[in-house]
Amino acid sequence: MERTLVLIKPDGIQRGLTGEIISRLERTGLKIIAMKMIQMDESLAKRHYSIHQGKPFFVGLIKYITSCPIVAVVLEGRKAVEVARKVMGSTDSAAAPAGTIRGDLGIDMGRNLVHGSDAPASAEKEIGLFFNPGELYNYSRDIDKWITESAG
Ligand code: RTP
Ligand code: MG
Repeated sequence: MERTLVLIKPDGIQRGLTGEIISRLERTGLKIIAMKMIQMDESLAKRHYSIHQGKPFFVGLIKYITSCPIVAVVLEGRKAVEVARKVMGSTDSAAAPAGTIRGDLGIDMGRNLVHGSDAPASAEKEIGLFFNPGELYNYSRDIDKWITESAG
């Protein structure tokens, strides 16, 4: 089953939107299999956003993401990466559609509340930056057969 890493970014924490954001993702049917609060240091932030090294927004991005504790969540389910990004909306909150987390709760590109992995391979890599294998829980839910046809 596919997994994705979601981060409730510092603005989400500061604005008291952690529960709202997790709730929107959780009610899709995706299953939470790991969750923790962590303050990212510069080293972790640079590894997590290594693909953006050298871009004009990189320095500001590292400063922002390390400015306050964040909440890291691993979600699992069918097409987890795509589903989470659909619920989050596009990168610039001002352009993100109504009904999405960024579209409903934000107005800025650099304060877009939430991170979601952009592909299954990057998800696996990112999950490894935040969690040990033993912190990822393997369990089933009685409701799974009502969420995913192949589950029952
Ligand atoms: P994320 O990785 O945080 O989930 O966001 P994303 O895939 O939608 O966007 P990405 O292109 O990966 O950019 C990572 C984060 O960098 C900030 N950003 N600022 N000022 C800018 O032009 C700019 N572009 C990107 C955003 O915080 C974005 O989420
Ligand atoms: Mg990205």
